[in-house]
Amino acid sequence: MKRTLRPATGISGAVTLPGDKSISHRYAMLASLAEGCSVIDNYSTGADCISTLECLRSLHVDLERKGTQVTVHGQGLYGLLQSDQPLDVGNSGTTMRLMSGILAGHSFESTLSGDESISKRPMQRIMAPLRIMGAQIDAIEDQYPPLHISGGRLRSICYELPVASAQVKSAVLLAGMYADGVTEVIEPFATRNHTEIVLKQLGTDLEVSGNSITIHGFPKLAARDLRVPADLSSAVFFIAAALLFPGSELRIENVGLNPTRTAVLDLLQQMGALIEVHPDSDDGGELAGTLVIRTEQKLAGGKISGDLTAGVIDEIPMLAVLGAASEGGLRIQDAGELRVKETDRIATVVENLRRLGVQVTEHAEGMDIEGGASFQAAEFDSFGDHRIAMAFTVAALAADGESILDGSQAASVSFPEFYEKLEAIVQE
Ligand code: S3P
Repeated sequence: MKRTLRPATGISGAVTLPGDKSISHRYAMLASLAEGCSVIDNYSTGADCISTLECLRSLHVDLERKGTQVTVHGQGLYGLLQSDQPLDVGNSGTTMRLMSGILAGHSFESTLSGDESISKRPMQRIMAPLRIMGAQIDAIEDQYPPLHISGGRLRSICYELPVASAQVKSAVLLAGMYADGVTEVIEPFATRNHTEIVLKQLGTDLEVSGNSITIHGFPKLAARDLRVPADLSSAVFFIAAALLFPGSELRIENVGLNPTRTAVLDLLQQMGALIEVHPDSDDGGELAGTLVIRTEQKLAGGKISGDLTAGVIDEIPMLAVLGAASEGGLRIQDAGELRVKETDRIATVVENLRRLGVQVTEHAEGMDIEGGASFQAAEFDSFGDHRIAMAFTVAALAADGESILDGSQAASVSFPEFYEKLEAIVQE
């Protein structure tokens, strides 16, 4: 679907955003394996998280969704039953990788498939550890979905992650619930820890020591009510919109502030952004709070490399646009993982930046973006990728005329209300 994007003169007001995508997936999956009824509030409205609910329903989990509230009637660790059809994860890599970890522990056969984009995403990274644990998994070219999983009682392992990936870490920890003994995952550096937090909240014997996480097999998960904070990765599109226009002021409440996700705020502050962070009190679950953004001047330039790249990987499309508008530009390195996201996000960001009139050099594992660009109106393409659609919608606010976005509907993968919410804070 083509959408006309009009330029803006500023951003002002307050916005409430939908629930975090990563956290919503985990709450739904683990509430399904708990004993008793859990009510999840502020569940993500994105298509990816609805795919997770549909997969769980196909596995005979009794759940209801009313707006953003999901009630899950958990049947215990072995409460899932074989699906009579392939499980459709849609566009969602998190659904496919985390559900694979859970299904590896079940003795029935499952098939996980999805859309065209997911069919090109690498699954070896979860297949390797799950096979060592004893699951049988087949895939196209031993790598691509659909995945056929035949699981059962698993062996515990100590697995050192070759790539820093929260999805792979989570798949192994979830499979570890179905393994004899203690399963250990060692990460090269800390990735988002939502799986660990909710496993602990539900009563699992899980320990974290430095970059090592251990889980004891066959936990009894206790149902509980859970509230999903707003998605910081979605908030970044609104923060960026405010940062593009000096004089803007924006308030975002109840947004997730889990420290494994806030590297993007640190980076923006280093680039000169004025972002006040007011955390709510910490109750041992997911940290949330309020952000206030006030823009006085243009951002300075910056560099993203090493561990920081992994910490801001989902925000890079938006950061790339901010880098182009900054005084000094942005250098992005060690970002090879971007090539295997919903699209090849190095290629799709570079292509759209060029249409915007930005000077950018593409590298195998990143890009160098020149700063000081004045954005020209253009026809952008989401290439079917939600974060590309949203990043270039925000970029178009600062362009010199009306732009067009092809494939704007992709935003609904994580954020169906995106355009409406953005319009509410835009000053024309
Ligand atoms: C996610 C982990 C990250 C992230 C993705 C969501 C998760 O992927 O990019 O959007 O919910 O665990 P990787 O684990 O592949 O880095």
